Amino acid sequence: MTNIKGTAMSLWTKMNRVQAQLSKHKWLKSILPLALLLLLAAGATTYLPKSVKGGTCTPSPCPTATDPGPRPLPATAGGFLGTLSANEVQIEPSITAEFDRVHDVVVTSPTDGGLGPVFNANSCQTCHAYPAAGGSSPPSNPLFNVYQYNGASNSMPFFETSTGPILEARFINQPGTTIPDGNVHQLFTIQGRADAPGCTLAQPNFNQASTEGNLVLRQVTPTYGDGLIEVVRNIAIIDNMNSNLTEKASLGITGHPNYSGNDGSIQRFGWKAQVRSTLLMSALQMNVEMGVTNETYPTEINQTAGCLFNPVPETVTNFTPGILTEMFPGDYSRTEYFIQWLNPPTPGPSSSATKNGKTQFTNAGCVYCHTTSFTTPHTSRPALDSITISLYSDLIVHHMGPGLADGLPQGGAGPDEFRTSPLWGIGQRLWFLHDGRTANIVTAIEDHYSVANTSYVQSEANQTVVNFNNLSKTNQQDLVDFLRSL
Ligand code: HEC
Ligand code: HEC
Repeated sequence: MTNIKGTAMSLWTKMNRVQAQLSKHKWLKSILPLALLLLLAAGATTYLPKSVKGGTCTPSPCPTATDPGPRPLPATAGGFLGTLSANEVQIEPSITAEFDRVHDVVVTSPTDGGLGPVFNANSCQTCHAYPAAGGSSPPSNPLFNVYQYNGASNSMPFFETSTGPILEARFINQPGTTIPDGNVHQLFTIQGRADAPGCTLAQPNFNQASTEGNLVLRQVTPTYGDGLIEVVRNIAIIDNMNSNLTEKASLGITGHPNYSGNDGSIQRFGWKAQVRSTLLMSALQMNVEMGVTNETYPTEINQTAGCLFNPVPETVTNFTPGILTEMFPGDYSRTEYFIQWLNPPTPGPSSSATKNGKTQFTNAGCVYCHTTSFTTPHTSRPALDSITISLYSDLIVHHMGPGLADGLPQGGAGPDEFRTSPLWGIGQRLWFLHDGRTANIVTAIEDHYSVANTSYVQSEANQTVVNFNNLSKTNQQDLVDFLRSL
């Protein structure tokens, strides 16, 4: 059953890719419904867009636009802000090297090692890879080069496919109990690796978690422009939330911030806006994704005897006399600067179609969650100072209905709530939505629609999807082309 789901997911991804070709190939169009029926029969309904269920569209009418697919390379994202100071520019090579660094188990120098005992990948760039360093999953899943690297005895969890998005796993409850969990359960362990002799450590049982409905999957968020997002004032987010209330009310849009329980500020990183800053997120990612302990998260996530090879924390601020200035901060601070200084993505060329698409994006009401822009305040880092950023997000969380709900609360974000995804850069993105369920941007829009059930209220985006489906063919296509120009 679980394997069917995985296969169906990759099959669906592939089918999305051919969809763009369908208008040209009538015969393909005729076998598509049959293929979909087979998928339905296989119990894979979760990954089918509502528009094809039962041959009718919910909401009707059916969407007419097609996804032209991702804009080709070269990447129009990646690279650092052009306004960095000379001193900041000096450390660019060092922070890039840190983001790219492949971590081994044993620490052999102050800037090396610390992988495991459990991990998802061995470098930041493995996951944040496309269309350039800092982004999201690349076309072929790099975890297939990581899981048995250096002799590791891991098997690949069923939900990873070689041409699908990198997915990481969380459990809703602790396995076999009703005690809330919510944590990332790392896909792999260092067992069998040449640099981890004697370590015996099994991978989590993802099949069981899936059978029990306890498995939550998330794809990689891109990080471009995060340094600018993090300095946006809380009050700017609140003012924006409280603007256009009449329009929002008529569409059924509300939403609220995911406040930090510690300082009351608005968190904004991650699919549920569960983390406040690039520093915290980088420290967390070091430990959660790679098992590299650091000054913010100083203990190993898994402390199995025989699998601990280094004193903790494994990376620290470097006080060795004579060390290069740019090596002074610990590894995770350097990855923080990498993230903080990344340019926002540059949109592709605009045309009369994409300009009209932007107007339709407003007309359909998308813009009441996907806020066009914020302006950063006066900051102590001149490169981040007073810049208008076109991120297309309100940085708050919304009820998205049972269709997207993952059952996992995080801080103030409920089990069906997600941060409005910033849409900058989606022109070159390969997979959409928190679980990477589709490569088709039209499906991503349709999947915003879902009606209430006994567990969840309806999606706040329902009316905007109805509006989208009701746009004229040209207006709808222009809207989609506008999204692919971002
Ligand atoms: C195994 C894949 C993987 C690796 C390795 C990885 N990340 Fe991530 N990253 C993710 C995923 C998945 C998310 C979304 C997490 C969530 O919301 O639960 C994410 C989110 C982020 C975000 C938040 C972006 C946003 O705007 O919401 C930042 C920043 C980030 N990662 C930085 C890093 C850094 C720095 C490293 C290396 C120290 C790193 N990541 C390593 C998978 C990875
Ligand atoms: C109620 C707020 C809301 C409205 C209205 C809304 N969205 Fe979204 N949008 C979201 C949220 C939240 C997500 C992330 C959902 C998830 O990952 O499960 C999202 C994700 C997306 C994505 C995928 C981005 C990614 O990172 O994978 C696209 C594309 C998108 N929206 C386009 C649109 C369009 C076009 C409209 C109007 C027809 C629209 N949205 C209306 C809240 C909204």
